[in-house]
Amino acid sequence: MKPINIGLLGIGTVGSGTFAVLKRNQEEIARRAGREIIIKIIADRDIDKARGIVGDDGTLITDDANEVVTHPDVDIVVELIGGYSAAKELTLKAIGNGKHVVTANKAMLASHGTEIFAAAERQGVMVAFEAAVAGGIPIIKALREGLTANRIEWIAGIINGTGNFILSEMRSKGLSFDTVLEQAQELGYAEADPTFDIEGIDAAHKISIMASIAFGISIQFDKVYTEGITKLTGEDISYAEELGYRIKLLGITKKTSKGIELRVHPTLIPSRRLIANVEGVMNAVVVKGDAVGPTLYYGPGAGAEPTASAVVADLVDVTRMHTADSKQRVPHLGVQPNLLLDIPILPMEEVVTSYYLRLQALDRPGVLADITCILAELEISIDAMVQKEPKKNEEQVDIIVLTHLSVEKNINAAIAKIEELPSVMGEITRIRLEELSSK
Ligand code: NAP
Ligand code: HSE
Repeated sequence: MKPINIGLLGIGTVGSGTFAVLKRNQEEIARRAGREIIIKIIADRDIDKARGIVGDDGTLITDDANEVVTHPDVDIVVELIGGYSAAKELTLKAIGNGKHVVTANKAMLASHGTEIFAAAERQGVMVAFEAAVAGGIPIIKALREGLTANRIEWIAGIINGTGNFILSEMRSKGLSFDTVLEQAQELGYAEADPTFDIEGIDAAHKISIMASIAFGISIQFDKVYTEGITKLTGEDISYAEELGYRIKLLGITKKTSKGIELRVHPTLIPSRRLIANVEGVMNAVVVKGDAVGPTLYYGPGAGAEPTASAVVADLVDVTRMHTADSKQRVPHLGVQPNLLLDIPILPMEEVVTSYYLRLQALDRPGVLADITCILAELEISIDAMVQKEPKKNEEQVDIIVLTHLSVEKNINAAIAKIEELPSVMGEITRIRLEELSSK
């Protein structure tokens, strides 16, 4: 059978990984796909770099991305340049020219997925995006196909490798935030703009895509509550440990009777949970289905070949389905496009979760009573309260409060009131806490 021809846009970290995996495992991949998959043409801004990676094997190399998306022999365009506008324009052009697209670009899909999928459906082509969420973990396939019998109740995931790498290295080696971020950039984990990783934006892109598939709603990245890891202190990481918790940057989405929760923030999770022990660049996603219960998916969330593993899996999938009737293919978001639901996304103020609060207060009679009184007035029930020893030459002490489930707006009100107490100093640190129990 005639080979499938690939046009590759971008031969950076993931592009070079994809090239290497396709070349190394060529025969095995052809046996699985039913035909050979060949990279016909590559576009990258740096032709010399591209030629250095590819060598002289007859692959066309250009610095004009348009040549790839218009090339008459190209069946599948693999978009690995990243970013928003150019990637979107090239993807739509490829689709318009009747080409299937494989992409790792969660930023583009989170912002323009609706338009891109609609264009692909009109044209009868596929847009595959396994590599866009959790790197090498086949979580899109699990959500769209493996768990299709279930009503999904919630998803919670460590879905940013850079963020998890930073938190792990800070906790285990006591390294500084900046040192570890630099290492993540050198290892090719970080986004071109690393604020996407550390401010939770990359995780927000990914959770918005997973929520859409899990609940059959459109992708709503603009509604994700997003808080990064830049304000976390070593103190909170160690207090959390003393209390039996680890702090992880989680993407969380939950279906509630009032709407869908969609949020990314640092989260205390019990140390005994498997996901709490996921370290380094590894990602893990827990998906709770009504029939299957909780399921856990674990693997590398970034890096050249782990991400290439997902890109090449998509290439094999598209190759297998290439000649199938487009109505028989798995829909982009797992449900038929005309059957997406319009369930509201819950405002963050209405979210119900537990909380870790750390405040500094003078060690005087009545201080704890004032604090507990404010919490009680706002219907916030205390799960645990710890007062630490004062540090050397300091009059104030750290007080840590863990709450039971509470409404976010009540916690906001309590924080504002407690900060006004004359015996309380500075700002209160608030970190959300999830038990992630299987119930
Ligand atoms: P990268 O290393 O920066 O590679 C992108 C390559 O594309 C670079 O060589 C870049 O050249 C080139 N490029 C950019 N715009 C171009 C254009 N208009 N025409 C031609 N070439 C262009 O990025 P990456 O880490 O491989 O990431 C690629 C995509 O995969 C992104 O969407 C990213 O979010 C996603 N992703 C990455 C990982 C990971 O671990 N790195 C994991 C999962 C998903 P210049 O360097 O000269 O700009
Ligand atoms: N920058 C991303 C991360 C790459 O660190 O997880 C994978 O999407």
